[in-house]
Amino acid sequence: MDYEAVMKLALERGFYFPSCEVYADAQAGFWEYGPTGVGLKNKFLELWRRELIRRDGMLEIDGSQIMSKSVFEASGHLGNFADPIIKCTKCNSTFRADRTIAELTQIDIPESADLEEFDNAISENNIKCPKCKGDFDKTKNFNMMFKVGIGPEEEEAYLRPETCQSIFVDFPRLYKTMRGKLPLGIAQVGKSFRNEIAPRQSLLRLREFYQAEIEVFCNPSKLNEMEKFAEIQDTIIRVQTDSEPVSMTCKEAIESGTVPNKFVAYYLGILTEFYEKTGIDVTKSRFRKLGDKEKAFYAEVAFDFEVETTIGWLELVACNYRSDYDLSSHANKSKEKFEVMDNDEKVLPHVFEISMGIDRSLYTILEHSLKDDKEHERIVLSLKPYLSPTHVGILSLVKKDGLKEKTDEIYLSIKRKFDAFLDHSGAIGRRYRRLDEIGAPFAVTVDHQTLEDDTVTIRKRDSMEQSRIKISDIDSILLESVAFP
Ligand code: GLY
Repeated sequence: MDYEAVMKLALERGFYFPSCEVYADAQAGFWEYGPTGVGLKNKFLELWRRELIRRDGMLEIDGSQIMSKSVFEASGHLGNFADPIIKCTKCNSTFRADRTIAELTQIDIPESADLEEFDNAISENNIKCPKCKGDFDKTKNFNMMFKVGIGPEEEEAYLRPETCQSIFVDFPRLYKTMRGKLPLGIAQVGKSFRNEIAPRQSLLRLREFYQAEIEVFCNPSKLNEMEKFAEIQDTIIRVQTDSEPVSMTCKEAIESGTVPNKFVAYYLGILTEFYEKTGIDVTKSRFRKLGDKEKAFYAEVAFDFEVETTIGWLELVACNYRSDYDLSSHANKSKEKFEVMDNDEKVLPHVFEISMGIDRSLYTILEHSLKDDKEHERIVLSLKPYLSPTHVGILSLVKKDGLKEKTDEIYLSIKRKFDAFLDHSGAIGRRYRRLDEIGAPFAVTVDHQTLEDDTVTIRKRDSMEQSRIKISDIDSILLESVAFP
């Protein structure tokens, strides 16, 4: 289904909604997750930990969201992390240059292009302010970091624009205390902050957003020495270096030179396997190789993992080969040592980054899982059972005759093992529909027969099939279906 259908579901079923919505001065670009959204997010992250972090023996840390100015002087964000903006000389409205030009002329200029390119496009195409038709001033850069003042002296610091800077800064300590060995993956989940000029489309362009980032530190002379490559050599990835994505195995990607080495191909392979398990249709995905003007300032080689949705291709993950850009910058600025021993060789590791946008991933899972079942006049969120915020609804057919008490008893016996939702009121058909919409794979209904023979009806979300089972079998049936793969 489309963006509007996901939005309706999100607002009506507690997935997500705007922050501070009761106030007129609520700012755009800030959204909250409701209870079902948090349930989905937590399970998505558990899958991420299983399929990437534990699979690869990575370390996970949890760093500060506010970091000192020196970090961002070294990282280059103070100098380079900017969007091109244009200001109207008549009404003073400010716009993103790349987006306004694209919207008004269909000309795509990458956001990191030289500022003159925007000015030329504006004068050649006679582009005027969309609000008042005034002329634009010259294009300027707008730094997207949020500045904060620490303590009474208001010492300059910044909300992190990417979670990974603490991973880089912490690397020497972590390598030493965790007895690191290259290649070493270090990961972090948390919020990042960007002062977007034009936040839009709910979770898709936020000013405060979740990232799950992995930085893999490696010896640059060993990028083809990767035993684990055998695990994914036959995994199919879709890579776009030209106009169309091409499906190929990871092995073929190496042999054809499409992906530069086994090290990078391994991570593209396990990332695709991870997304397949989220229920996203990976036949609609691509690793799009970025051109020099599209890459972030720290990236030597970059592939964006993008997925096709009803509103176009969405970038879910940035895969950046950052070389020694970050470690050498922090070493120079801090005067600390960032080299480590790799067996007998002293190296300044290179970094390959898998920077995942959690909010966009959750949106895409919702869009790819939401179905309009016209035959049965219902909307179904066919989430993978292990990602469902609610595993099972526990329903009494009616409240009277002791059915409520029996239903409560079943709910109490399973609620610490499964995400169960207790519901006594309303027409049973409507209660099933509501469970279908939040993606609950099962509903268990207690009726008069339950009191006689300790059996209940279990209904499956996708097939709507109903069968009679013993109360004592509920646990094992749920366990088998909702367990992570
Ligand atoms: N760390 C890469 C990014 O935030 O895009």
